[in-house]
Amino acid sequence: MKPNRILTPPHTFHIPLDRRRFFKSMALASAGFTLPGYLAEALTYAPEVTQGPYYPLANNIPLDKDNDLIHLNNNLTAATGIITYVTGRVLDASGNPVKGALVELWHCDSPSPNTAGAQCNYLYSASATRNPAMDANFQGFGQFLTGTGGFYKFRTIKAGLYNSRTRHYHFGITFPGMTARKTTQLFWNETTKDTNGTNWATQNSNDSVWAGITDANQRASVTKDFTVVDVATGAVATSWDIVMNYTPVDPTYPGSGFVVPGSVVAGPGGTNRFQVSIPAYTNYTYEVYGNPTLLNFGSNVTNWTSPYLTNLSWAALPFALTPAGALATNKFTATSNGTLNLYLTAPPEKGFYFISFRVPGANTGIP
Ligand SMILES: [Fe+2]
Repeated sequence: MKPNRILTPPHTFHIPLDRRRFFKSMALASAGFTLPGYLAEALTYAPEVTQGPYYPLANNIPLDKDNDLIHLNNNLTAATGIITYVTGRVLDASGNPVKGALVELWHCDSPSPNTAGAQCNYLYSASATRNPAMDANFQGFGQFLTGTGGFYKFRTIKAGLYNSRTRHYHFGITFPGMTARKTTQLFWNETTKDTNGTNWATQNSNDSVWAGITDANQRASVTKDFTVVDVATGAVATSWDIVMNYTPVDPTYPGSGFVVPGSVVAGPGGTNRFQVSIPAYTNYTYEVYGNPTLLNFGSNVTNWTSPYLTNLSWAALPFALTPAGALATNKFTATSNGTLNLYLTAPPEKGFYFISFRVPGANTGIP
Protein backbone atom coordinates (compact mmCIF):
# COMPACT_ATOMS: atom_id res chain seq x y z
CA MET A 1 0.00 0.00 0.00
CA LYS A 2 1.08 3.52 -0.68
CA PRO A 3 0.44 6.66 1.34
CA ASN A 4 -2.76 8.42 0.47
CA ARG A 5 -1.73 11.99 -0.02
CA ILE A 6 -3.88 14.49 1.81
CA LEU A 7 -7.07 15.41 -0.04
CA THR A 8 -6.19 13.30 -3.02
CA PRO A 9 -7.73 9.96 -3.81
CA PRO A 10 -5.52 6.90 -3.75
CA HIS A 11 -4.11 5.74 -7.06
CA THR A 12 -2.34 2.59 -8.06
CA PHE A 13 0.66 4.78 -8.71
CA HIS A 14 1.30 8.19 -7.19
CA ILE A 15 2.62 9.49 -10.44
CA PRO A 16 2.14 12.70 -12.36
CA LEU A 17 -0.76 12.95 -14.74
CA ASP A 18 1.47 12.66 -17.78
CA ARG A 19 2.57 9.25 -16.58
CA ARG A 20 -0.97 8.08 -16.17
CA ARG A 21 -1.67 9.27 -19.70
CA PHE A 22 1.30 7.20 -20.74
CA PHE A 23 -0.27 4.04 -19.40
CA LYS A 24 -3.66 4.90 -20.83
CA SER A 25 -2.19 5.55 -24.24
CA MET A 26 -0.26 2.29 -24.10
CA ALA A 27 -3.45 0.41 -23.34
CA LEU A 28 -5.25 2.06 -26.22
CA ALA A 29 -2.36 1.49 -28.59
CA SER A 30 -2.47 -2.23 -27.85
CA ALA A 31 -6.22 -2.58 -27.82
CA GLY A 32 -6.41 -3.55 -31.47
CA PHE A 33 -4.23 -6.60 -30.98
CA THR A 34 -6.45 -8.62 -28.71
CA LEU A 35 -8.09 -10.67 -31.43
CA PRO A 36 -8.38 -14.31 -30.40
CA GLY A 37 -5.56 -16.34 -31.79
CA TYR A 38 -4.04 -13.34 -33.49
CA LEU A 39 -1.06 -14.52 -35.51
CA ALA A 40 -0.76 -17.54 -33.26
CA GLU A 41 1.69 -19.14 -35.66
CA ALA A 42 4.02 -16.15 -35.30
CA LEU A 43 4.09 -16.13 -31.50
CA THR A 44 7.38 -16.36 -29.68
CA TYR A 45 6.90 -17.95 -26.32
CA ALA A 46 8.70 -16.47 -23.36
CA PRO A 47 11.69 -18.69 -22.58
CA GLU A 48 11.36 -20.54 -19.30
CA VAL A 49 14.56 -20.03 -17.36
CA THR A 50 15.64 -20.61 -13.80
CA GLN A 51 13.76 -18.95 -10.98
CA GLY A 52 17.08 -18.36 -9.28
CA PRO A 53 17.64 -18.61 -5.55
CA TYR A 54 16.19 -15.23 -4.58
CA TYR A 55 12.43 -15.50 -4.84
CA PRO A 56 11.29 -14.37 -1.39
CA LEU A 57 10.75 -17.09 1.17
CA ALA A 58 7.17 -17.65 2.26
CA ASN A 59 7.79 -15.76 5.48
CA ASN A 60 9.46 -12.93 3.57
CA ILE A 61 6.67 -12.11 1.15
CA PRO A 62 6.21 -8.45 2.00
CA LEU A 63 2.86 -6.97 2.93
CA ASP A 64 3.65 -4.26 0.41
CA LYS A 65 3.81 -6.24 -2.80
CA ASP A 66 1.94 -3.96 -5.17
CA ASN A 67 3.13 -3.05 -8.65
CA ASP A 68 4.94 0.12 -7.61
CA LEU A 69 8.31 -1.06 -6.34
CA ILE A 70 9.94 2.33 -5.90
CA HIS A 71 8.06 3.13 -2.69
CA LEU A 72 8.05 0.85 0.33
CA ASN A 73 5.03 1.05 2.61
CA ASN A 74 4.36 4.68 3.57
CA ASN A 75 7.89 5.80 2.89
CA LEU A 76 7.86 8.90 0.68
CA THR A 77 11.52 8.50 -0.29
CA ALA A 78 11.85 6.69 -3.58
CA ALA A 79 14.23 3.80 -4.12
CA THR A 80 17.65 4.61 -5.55
CA GLY A 81 17.92 3.98 -9.26
CA ILE A 82 16.59 4.83 -12.70
CA ILE A 83 12.81 4.72 -12.62
CA THR A 84 11.67 2.04 -15.03
CA TYR A 85 8.21 1.15 -16.29
CA VAL A 86 7.50 -2.31 -17.61
CA THR A 87 4.09 -2.83 -19.14
CA GLY A 88 2.48 -5.32 -21.45
CA ARG A 89 0.09 -8.19 -21.61
CA VAL A 90 0.09 -11.82 -20.61
CA LEU A 91 -0.94 -14.04 -23.51
CA ASP A 92 -1.63 -17.74 -23.69
CA ALA A 93 -0.33 -20.28 -26.17
CA SER A 94 -2.82 -19.08 -28.78
CA GLY A 95 -2.07 -15.41 -28.30
CA ASN A 96 -5.21 -14.71 -26.30
CA PRO A 97 -4.96 -12.32 -23.34
CA VAL A 98 -5.08 -14.13 -20.02
CA LYS A 99 -7.31 -12.76 -17.30
CA GLY A 100 -6.38 -13.63 -13.73
CA ALA A 101 -2.71 -14.32 -14.42
CA LEU A 102 -0.47 -13.51 -11.48
CA VAL A 103 2.60 -11.62 -12.69
CA GLU A 104 5.45 -11.37 -10.19
CA LEU A 105 8.55 -9.23 -10.51
CA TRP A 106 11.57 -9.33 -8.23
CA HIS A 107 15.06 -8.06 -8.79
CA CYS A 108 18.22 -6.61 -7.31
CA ASP A 109 18.35 -3.10 -5.85
CA SER A 110 20.52 -0.38 -7.36
CA PRO A 111 23.05 0.83 -4.82
CA SER A 112 25.23 3.81 -5.54
CA PRO A 113 28.01 3.20 -6.40
CA ASN A 114 27.13 0.04 -8.31
CA THR A 115 30.65 -1.03 -9.10
CA ALA A 116 32.77 -4.13 -8.94
CA GLY A 117 32.84 -5.33 -5.37
CA ALA A 118 29.69 -3.37 -4.50
CA GLN A 119 27.04 -6.01 -5.07
CA CYS A 120 23.37 -5.25 -5.34
CA ASN A 121 20.93 -6.91 -2.97
CA TYR A 122 17.72 -8.86 -3.30
CA LEU A 123 14.82 -8.72 -0.88
CA TYR A 124 15.55 -12.38 -0.17
CA SER A 125 16.93 -13.22 3.22
CA ALA A 126 17.59 -16.64 4.67
CA SER A 127 15.97 -15.50 7.90
CA ALA A 128 12.35 -14.50 8.19
CA THR A 129 13.11 -10.86 7.63
CA ARG A 130 13.74 -8.49 4.80
CA ASN A 131 17.38 -8.46 3.68
CA PRO A 132 18.81 -5.66 5.87
CA ALA A 133 21.50 -4.89 3.30
CA MET A 134 18.94 -3.91 0.69
CA ASP A 135 18.02 -0.34 -0.22
CA ALA A 136 15.63 0.53 2.63
CA ASN A 137 13.32 2.33 0.19
CA PHE A 138 13.07 -0.42 -2.40
CA GLN A 139 10.17 -2.82 -2.35
CA GLY A 140 12.16 -5.48 -4.18
CA PHE A 141 9.15 -7.62 -5.13
CA GLY A 142 5.76 -6.92 -6.61
CA GLN A 143 2.71 -8.66 -7.97
CA PHE A 144 0.04 -7.80 -10.48
CA LEU A 145 -3.10 -9.77 -11.26
CA THR A 146 -4.18 -9.26 -14.84
CA GLY A 147 -7.73 -8.27 -15.66
CA THR A 148 -9.63 -8.48 -18.92
CA GLY A 149 -7.18 -7.77 -21.71
CA GLY A 150 -4.33 -9.42 -19.84
CA PHE A 151 -2.55 -6.14 -19.10
CA TYR A 152 0.06 -5.78 -16.39
CA LYS A 153 2.25 -2.85 -15.37
CA PHE A 154 5.05 -2.24 -12.93
CA ARG A 155 6.98 0.81 -11.85
CA THR A 156 10.38 -0.08 -10.49
CA ILE A 157 14.05 0.79 -10.92
CA LYS A 158 16.70 -0.47 -13.27
CA ALA A 159 18.14 -3.66 -11.84
CA GLY A 160 21.51 -3.41 -10.11
CA LEU A 161 24.58 -5.52 -10.73
CA TYR A 162 26.10 -8.52 -9.06
CA ASN A 163 29.01 -10.71 -9.99
CA SER A 164 28.62 -13.23 -12.79
CA ARG A 165 25.31 -11.82 -14.03
CA THR A 166 24.26 -9.08 -16.38
CA ARG A 167 21.31 -6.86 -15.47
CA HIS A 168 18.04 -8.77 -15.31
CA TYR A 169 14.54 -8.79 -13.93
CA HIS A 170 13.02 -12.00 -12.63
CA PHE A 171 9.43 -12.62 -13.69
CA GLY A 172 7.01 -15.25 -12.45
CA ILE A 173 3.77 -16.04 -14.27
CA THR A 174 0.98 -18.14 -12.79
CA PHE A 175 -2.08 -18.85 -14.91
CA PRO A 176 -5.42 -19.76 -13.35
CA GLY A 177 -5.18 -23.45 -12.58
CA MET A 178 -1.39 -23.61 -12.48
CA THR A 179 0.06 -25.18 -9.37
CA ALA A 180 3.39 -23.35 -9.58
CA ARG A 181 4.72 -20.23 -11.23
CA LYS A 182 6.66 -20.39 -14.46
CA THR A 183 9.72 -18.19 -14.43
CA THR A 184 11.59 -16.15 -16.98
CA GLN A 185 14.00 -13.22 -16.98
CA LEU A 186 14.16 -9.90 -18.82
CA PHE A 187 17.36 -8.26 -20.04
CA TRP A 188 18.62 -4.90 -21.33
CA ASN A 189 19.68 -4.49 -24.92
CA GLU A 190 22.78 -2.50 -24.07
CA THR A 191 26.41 -2.70 -23.13
CA THR A 192 26.27 -3.18 -19.38
CA LYS A 193 28.31 -0.58 -17.52
CA ASP A 194 28.75 0.10 -13.84
CA THR A 195 28.31 3.54 -12.29
CA ASN A 196 31.91 4.44 -13.17
CA GLY A 197 31.12 3.84 -16.82
CA THR A 198 33.29 0.74 -16.81
CA ASN A 199 32.14 -2.26 -18.79
CA TRP A 200 30.75 -4.90 -16.46
CA ALA A 201 32.55 -8.22 -16.61
CA THR A 202 29.35 -10.06 -17.49
CA GLN A 203 27.45 -8.89 -20.55
CA ASN A 204 24.37 -10.54 -22.03
CA SER A 205 26.57 -12.58 -24.34
CA ASN A 206 28.44 -14.25 -21.47
CA ASP A 207 25.57 -14.32 -19.00
CA SER A 208 24.81 -18.00 -18.43
CA VAL A 209 21.05 -17.52 -18.34
CA TRP A 210 20.82 -15.25 -21.39
CA ALA A 211 23.23 -17.36 -23.40
CA GLY A 212 21.41 -20.47 -22.24
CA ILE A 213 18.31 -19.36 -24.20
CA THR A 214 19.27 -21.11 -27.41
CA ASP A 215 16.33 -19.92 -29.54
CA ALA A 216 17.31 -16.59 -31.11
CA ASN A 217 13.71 -15.33 -31.28
CA GLN A 218 13.12 -16.17 -27.65
CA ARG A 219 16.38 -14.50 -26.67
CA ALA A 220 15.43 -11.39 -28.59
CA SER A 221 11.97 -11.35 -27.01
CA VAL A 222 13.48 -10.89 -23.55
CA THR A 223 16.23 -8.45 -24.55
CA LYS A 224 14.59 -5.06 -24.42
CA ASP A 225 15.27 -1.49 -25.43
CA PHE A 226 14.24 0.92 -22.70
CA THR A 227 13.07 4.30 -23.99
CA VAL A 228 13.34 7.53 -22.02
CA VAL A 229 9.81 8.67 -21.22
CA ASP A 230 10.65 11.54 -18.85
CA VAL A 231 13.69 13.67 -19.64
CA ALA A 232 13.53 15.46 -16.30
CA THR A 233 13.93 12.29 -14.24
CA GLY A 234 15.49 10.02 -16.84
CA ALA A 235 12.71 7.52 -16.35
CA VAL A 236 12.58 4.80 -18.97
CA ALA A 237 9.97 2.33 -20.16
CA THR A 238 9.61 -0.83 -22.14
CA SER A 239 6.71 -2.96 -23.24
CA TRP A 240 6.72 -6.72 -23.15
CA ASP A 241 3.92 -9.10 -24.08
CA ILE A 242 4.65 -12.24 -22.14
CA VAL A 243 3.50 -15.11 -24.33
CA MET A 244 3.29 -18.31 -22.33
CA ASN A 245 3.06 -21.73 -23.94
CA TYR A 246 0.13 -22.63 -21.71
CA THR A 247 -3.62 -22.46 -21.77
CA PRO A 248 -5.35 -21.22 -18.63
CA VAL A 249 -8.03 -23.28 -16.96
CA ASP A 250 -11.41 -21.78 -17.65
CA PRO A 251 -13.76 -22.54 -14.77
CA THR A 252 -16.84 -24.16 -16.24
CA TYR A 253 -19.18 -23.09 -13.49
CA PRO A 254 -20.46 -19.52 -13.22
CA GLY A 255 -19.53 -19.11 -9.58
CA SER A 256 -17.90 -20.79 -6.64
CA GLY A 257 -20.66 -23.28 -6.06
CA PHE A 258 -24.18 -24.43 -6.85
CA VAL A 259 -27.10 -26.20 -5.23
CA VAL A 260 -28.37 -29.64 -6.06
CA PRO A 261 -31.27 -31.73 -4.73
CA GLY A 262 -30.76 -34.94 -2.80
CA SER A 263 -32.77 -38.11 -3.34
CA VAL A 264 -33.24 -41.06 -1.00
CA VAL A 265 -31.53 -44.31 -1.95
CA ALA A 266 -30.88 -47.57 -0.12
CA GLY A 267 -27.77 -47.52 2.04
CA PRO A 268 -25.93 -50.24 3.90
CA GLY A 269 -27.81 -52.54 6.27
CA GLY A 270 -31.30 -51.36 5.43
CA THR A 271 -30.48 -47.68 6.10
CA ASN A 272 -31.24 -44.79 3.85
CA ARG A 273 -28.74 -42.52 2.25
CA PHE A 274 -29.10 -39.37 0.23
CA GLN A 275 -27.70 -39.25 -3.26
CA VAL A 276 -26.52 -36.11 -5.06
CA SER A 277 -25.61 -36.20 -8.72
CA ILE A 278 -23.39 -33.42 -10.08
CA PRO A 279 -21.73 -32.68 -13.41
CA ALA A 280 -18.05 -33.25 -12.67
CA TYR A 281 -14.94 -32.24 -14.54
CA THR A 282 -11.48 -33.74 -14.46
CA ASN A 283 -9.30 -32.45 -11.63
CA TYR A 284 -12.04 -30.29 -10.14
CA THR A 285 -12.39 -30.87 -6.40
CA TYR A 286 -15.85 -31.05 -4.86
CA GLU A 287 -17.28 -30.67 -1.41
CA VAL A 288 -20.85 -31.01 -0.19
CA TYR A 289 -22.17 -28.58 2.38
CA GLY A 290 -25.27 -28.76 4.51
CA ASN A 291 -27.01 -25.95 6.26
CA PRO A 292 -26.03 -25.81 9.93
CA THR A 293 -28.88 -26.42 12.33
CA LEU A 294 -29.31 -27.01 16.04
CA LEU A 295 -30.74 -30.44 15.27
CA ASN A 296 -27.76 -32.40 16.53
CA PHE A 297 -27.20 -30.35 19.68
CA GLY A 298 -29.87 -31.88 21.89
CA SER A 299 -29.30 -30.97 25.50
CA ASN A 300 -25.82 -29.80 24.65
CA VAL A 301 -27.25 -26.51 23.41
CA THR A 302 -26.99 -25.10 26.96
CA ASN A 303 -23.39 -26.20 27.33
CA TRP A 304 -21.40 -23.40 25.77
CA THR A 305 -18.13 -25.26 26.08
CA SER A 306 -19.53 -28.24 24.25
CA PRO A 307 -17.53 -29.32 21.23
CA TYR A 308 -20.90 -29.59 19.47
CA LEU A 309 -20.98 -25.80 19.28
CA THR A 310 -17.98 -25.81 17.01
CA ASN A 311 -20.30 -27.37 14.46
CA LEU A 312 -22.46 -24.26 14.33
CA SER A 313 -21.14 -23.24 10.95
CA TRP A 314 -21.25 -24.40 7.39
CA ALA A 315 -19.25 -27.57 7.19
CA ALA A 316 -18.30 -30.03 4.52
CA LEU A 317 -20.38 -33.18 5.00
CA PRO A 318 -18.75 -36.60 4.80
CA PHE A 319 -19.85 -38.69 1.87
CA ALA A 320 -19.27 -42.03 0.16
CA LEU A 321 -18.69 -42.71 -3.50
CA THR A 322 -21.07 -45.67 -3.58
CA PRO A 323 -24.52 -46.11 -1.95
CA ALA A 324 -23.19 -48.46 0.73
CA GLY A 325 -19.58 -47.27 0.85
CA ALA A 326 -17.76 -45.83 3.82
CA LEU A 327 -18.29 -42.15 4.59
CA ALA A 328 -14.57 -41.75 4.19
CA THR A 329 -14.10 -38.31 2.74
CA ASN A 330 -15.57 -34.83 2.52
CA LYS A 331 -13.79 -33.74 -0.60
CA PHE A 332 -13.25 -35.51 -3.87
CA THR A 333 -11.21 -34.65 -6.93
CA ALA A 334 -12.80 -35.99 -10.09
CA THR A 335 -10.60 -38.06 -12.38
CA SER A 336 -12.85 -37.82 -15.42
CA ASN A 337 -15.64 -35.74 -16.91
CA GLY A 338 -19.19 -36.91 -16.36
CA THR A 339 -21.83 -37.36 -13.71
CA LEU A 340 -20.46 -37.82 -10.22
CA ASN A 341 -22.71 -39.45 -7.61
CA LEU A 342 -22.06 -38.81 -3.93
CA TYR A 343 -23.87 -40.47 -1.01
CA LEU A 344 -24.51 -38.85 2.35
CA THR A 345 -26.27 -39.71 5.59
CA ALA A 346 -27.08 -36.09 6.45
CA PRO A 347 -30.41 -35.08 4.92
CA PRO A 348 -30.48 -32.09 2.58
CA GLU A 349 -31.74 -28.89 4.15
CA LYS A 350 -34.99 -27.94 2.43
CA GLY A 351 -34.23 -30.64 -0.13
CA PHE A 352 -30.93 -29.15 -1.36
CA TYR A 353 -27.21 -29.33 -0.71
CA PHE A 354 -24.65 -26.70 -1.58
CA ILE A 355 -21.81 -28.00 -3.75
CA SER A 356 -18.51 -26.16 -3.49
CA PHE A 357 -15.83 -26.73 -6.10
CA ARG A 358 -12.27 -25.71 -6.74
CA VAL A 359 -10.67 -25.50 -10.14
CA PRO A 360 -7.71 -27.74 -10.99
CA GLY A 361 -4.55 -26.63 -9.28
CA ALA A 362 -6.32 -24.59 -6.65
CA ASN A 363 -5.41 -25.05 -3.02
CA THR A 364 -7.95 -27.61 -1.87
CA GLY A 365 -7.37 -26.72 1.76
CA ILE A 366 -8.30 -28.81 4.77
CA PRO A 367 -12.04 -29.45 4.69
FE1 LIG B 1 19.02 -12.67 -10.29
